[in-house]
Amino acid sequence: MQLDHLHIEHFRNLSRVELTPGPRFNVLTGPNGQGKTNLLEAIYTLGSVKSLRAQRNAELIQWEQERALIEGEISREAHRRQARIEIGATGKRVVLNGTLVRSIQDYFGTLSAVVFSPDDLGMLKGGPSERRRFLDRAVFNTRAGYLADVQAYESVLRQRNAVLKSPSPSAGLLEVYDEQLADYGASITQRRLEYLRDFFPIFRRAFRGIFTLEGEVEASESAQIAETLALGYGASWWSPSPVSVSGELEVPSLEALRTGLGGALRRGAREDMRRGTTCSGPHRDDLHLAFLEREVRSFASQGQLRAIVLAMKIAEIQVLTERLRFTPVLLLDDVSSELDRDRNRLLFELLKRHPGQVFITTTHRDFIQLEGEDVRSWSVRQGALEPR
Ligand SMILES: Nc1ncnc2c1ncn2[C@@H]1O[C@H](COP(=O)(O)OP(=O)(O)OP(=O)(O)O)[C@@H](O)[C@H]1O
Ligand SMILES: [Mg+2]
Repeated sequence: MQLDHLHIEHFRNLSRVELTPGPRFNVLTGPNGQGKTNLLEAIYTLGSVKSLRAQRNAELIQWEQERALIEGEISREAHRRQARIEIGATGKRVVLNGTLVRSIQDYFGTLSAVVFSPDDLGMLKGGPSERRRFLDRAVFNTRAGYLADVQAYESVLRQRNAVLKSPSPSAGLLEVYDEQLADYGASITQRRLEYLRDFFPIFRRAFRGIFTLEGEVEASESAQIAETLALGYGASWWSPSPVSVSGELEVPSLEALRTGLGGALRRGAREDMRRGTTCSGPHRDDLHLAFLEREVRSFASQGQLRAIVLAMKIAEIQVLTERLRFTPVLLLDDVSSELDRDRNRLLFELLKRHPGQVFITTTHRDFIQLEGEDVRSWSVRQGALEPR
């Protein structure tokens, strides 16, 4: 899969961009605050419709402008597609090959992109929401109906929370929302667990590979450490929690998940009213990661954390490539500043082996170790691109 052309108007600080990327490496260099991440965010938004960073559409539109536009020509083998996303303050319009897209499912797979960014470290160090974001993005790329379910779930959740905050919450209304939440929530959870089941063995292999390559430990030792790798899906509303993830995980049925979540919502209604918010459901779930029988968050070194995040990302790409049978576009934001020299080298070795299209941003061109590769370069200044 490849982005052949990109046209942007008034997306954040990018007033107007016309970009014809190459099939392999596309490097965007520029000082801080010039629009490098904005450009990757535009590409990501073109693929996912959901933004990387913004919560609200209005944030994506250039100040003093009414709307933003992202347009791309995308090819996958012989297929060519023209995708267009118009962003207004109150919503987005998505057009594919000249036709308005009414159901987000019909847009699925138009442009699959995987992002690497300095924020990824937050996935292990930060709060549950960052781990959920990783998971949701990964699942979104592999499953057509996922985004629609997440959006529907979030919308019902907002309504339920509004009822909970009202002076005298209606029990009948809550019941209606509970049922809808249980429906969408079961489907979201099932897809997450299915994803993790497929992801885990690949993640473990990547983890072992990186620890060995890094020379941190001997190969035999890293294989042993990898054997102790444990991933859990924590859901307060499910028992047992965390669900222990492996390649053999038996994912619960939709019916069982629906019953489990519905029951938890009913039992938690009084507490939810007191707090004015819904305390159980996939919007509160978390991932737990451990090796050598300890939670990664609390004991891994900074270097180990980076290696783990890298392994997670590599696994994400591999799962996606296997599932979709084509390589996604990689978006690497500002990776150099986060990685020391050895890991940087390792990253570029991995990238050279990755067959697809890659976009890389950096503040310093010297960080980019791609000698002998097919590279196109631009500089980014004040929201404008210049070939270099
Ligand atoms: N809606 C918007 N309208 C106009 N400008 C915006 C908007 N949102 C963000 N910006 C501007 O975009 C710039 C940041 O761009 P971006 O995050 O892409 O920088 P960067 O080149 O990635 O920098 P760094 O190297 O520091 O990561 C800031 O100057 C910010 O003020
Ligand atoms: Mg940036």
